[in-house]
Order: sequence, then C-alpha cells, then structure tokens
Amino acid sequence: MIRYSRVIGTGGYLPEEIRTNEQISRTVDTSDSWIFERTGIKSRRIAAPHETSSSMAEIAARQALAAGACDPEDIDIIIVATGTPDRVYPSTACLLQQRLGIKNCVAFDVQAACSGSIFALSIADQYIKSGAAKKVLVVGSELCSRIVDWTDRSTCILFGDGAGALLLAVSAETGILSTHIHSDGEYEDLLYCPNPQVAATLHEQQQAGYISMRGSEVFKVAVNTLERIVDETLDANNMDKSEIDWLVPHQANIRIIAATAKKLKMSMDQVVVTLETQGNTSSASVLLAFNEAVRDGRIQRGQVVLLEAFGAGFTWGSALIRY
Ligand SMILES: CC(C)(COP(=O)(O)OP(=O)(O)OC[C@H]1O[C@@H](n2cnc3c(N)ncnc32)[C@H](O)[C@@H]1OP(=O)(O)O)[C@@H](O)C(=O)NCCC(=O)NCCS
Repeated sequence: MIRYSRVIGTGGYLPEEIRTNEQISRTVDTSDSWIFERTGIKSRRIAAPHETSSSMAEIAARQALAAGACDPEDIDIIIVATGTPDRVYPSTACLLQQRLGIKNCVAFDVQAACSGSIFALSIADQYIKSGAAKKVLVVGSELCSRIVDWTDRSTCILFGDGAGALLLAVSAETGILSTHIHSDGEYEDLLYCPNPQVAATLHEQQQAGYISMRGSEVFKVAVNTLERIVDETLDANNMDKSEIDWLVPHQANIRIIAATAKKLKMSMDQVVVTLETQGNTSSASVLLAFNEAVRDGRIQRGQVVLLEAFGAGFTWGSALIRY
C-alpha cells in the first residue's frame, strides 16, 4: 500500500499584545511608512512575560488535535520546531508532551531557524510514509520578541511571536506529495543568534543573545534560493505552475513573497499573507498561515498547496501538499 501523510487538523495561537510600527518608532529611529514599504509589516504580536514556546505550542496543538478529532494518546511522534526553546533541555517537544498528558510517544525538537516547520514536516512525512508512525504532531513555536535587541532598528521591526500546529495521519489518499529540504552553513554569519554561555569565541561570549543579521545580503540569497526550490518541487512532481492553487510562504518580507509568487506566475490573491499583522514568527509562520487559510475556508480539500521557507544557516525547504 502507498502511504501518504494527510493533514487532518491545524491550529494556531497568537499572543494578545499587538505592537504596532507606530509604537516601535517611539523608541527607535524608524517610521511606520519605512517599515511597511520595505517589509509589508504593520504590527506583530508580543507574548506576555508568563508565556513560553511550550505554553503557546500547547494552545496551537490542542486546536489541531480537536480539529482532527484525535485523542492525544494516539500521537506517535511530536516534533517541535523552535529557535526559542523554554530550556536548553529537555526539548520543548518533551515539555509539550507533558502538557498534553501523553505518556507513550516520541518527542523531539528541530532547529532549522525559520525553515524549522518545513524540516519538521519533512521528517514527519518520512516516518509516516515508511510505516513507522501513524500520527505525527508538528508544531512551530517562537518567542522572537525575547531574542531581538529592541534598540536595533534593523531587526526589531521584523519579528513577532506565535505558534502554529499541524496534525498528520497516515492515509491511502494523497496528502503530502513531496518535501525538499536543504542547508548551507557557508552563510552562518549573515543571520545568527549567539549563545553567549556556550560560545567558543570571546566575541560571541561578549555579545548578548540577540539576532544579528545582514539584511540586504540575506534578502538577495533568499529570493534566489526560493526561486530554485519552486523549480525543484514542481520538477519532482512533474507538475506545472498552473496546477498550484495556493502558495503558503514563510512570512519574512512581502517583497520576497511577491518575487516567489511572480516566479510561479501566481496572483497575490492565491498567496496566504499574514505578515502585515504578525511579522516574521520564524518557524511558526508557515503553520500559522496554513491554519488561517484552512480555517477561513480559502484552502479547500483536494487543492494543491505549496509551502516554502528560508532561514538562518542558511536552511530552506518546501512541501507540496494535496490538501
Ligand atoms: C531588513 C530589510 C527590511 C532591510 O531593508 P533594505 O531595503 O535591505 O535596507 P538596508 O538594510 O539596505 O538599509 C537601507 C537603509 O535603511 C536603514 N534602516 C535599516 N532599518 C531601518 C529602519 N527600521 N527604519 C529606518 N531605516 C532603517 C539602514 O540603516 C540603511 O541606511 P543607510 O543607507 O543610511 O546606511 C531587508 O533587507 C530584509 O527584509 N531582508 C531580509 C530579512 C529576512 O528575510 N530575514 C529573515 C530571513 S528568515
């Protein structure tokens, strides 16, 4: 029997606090118009002090479980993508497992920065296709607001907090058609977040644990790389651009998203964009956008959806899904 990974439930969580460009422009030298024109972002959500990646993940995960009418005990594997784990260890996935009250499943984190959700989906798909797992819960959860330097106007305007979840189950019908993931550590210095406590160099030991980015260089590589992954994904499935119903991109910059849509000859009406009110929520962004478009009825059963992401590493990847 051919096994596919079918999406049976989605969920999402955004913290209550909305931080607008206007508010940020009161503390750093920037403006609403600069931020919106260069990025497409107007506001982002900021987690409350008591919230963590695992607490946000729990809310998104419970929604996905409810949507899939799934008993937590039926989950075989939990994979959490996060760059902001509650603790160095145990993994956020283990903390989520505990929160969901699941005794017998495997739980682990994936760290691939903003591509984390695609990497997690790809791993989940391999386990399901091979017959090693029947139900896998994939979550992306991020507290980006705690790792940005709120005095650095080049990064603090970009990021937001949130969690997205997706529940996959084995199926004889189509589901995930293919996933493609890549990494290239050559670009480690263009976008990184140091871990001063364990860093080997004095320079990084003296840095605060904040995101550091060479934005315009990241931008150029992101656009080129995402164009390539679109071709790779279509070729692998012998599919034409016109067969894709929806693009669900990582939400980093509207100009990067528009370039990918143009490459696919897709109208922006077929692109799920959450960036304006959420900013870049790193590994949560694709799952949050997917959840939103499923719940508001844009993405319908049977439609073909292309998910893609690009992040620090660099890492990048895509997943083609017949929903
Ligand atoms: C960050 C980003 C929005 C900056 O836009 P940009 O058009 O590339 O701008 P640059 O970095 O070249 O900076 C242009 C000028 O704007 C200034 N600037 C930077 N941030 C600013 C801000 N928030 N407000 C006002 N001016 C700002 C810079 O200091 C620079 O000034 P200068 O010309 O006097 O030196 C853009 O590069 C980007 O989105 N990059 C990709 C980021 C990304 O996707 N990261 C995550 C990957 S997962």
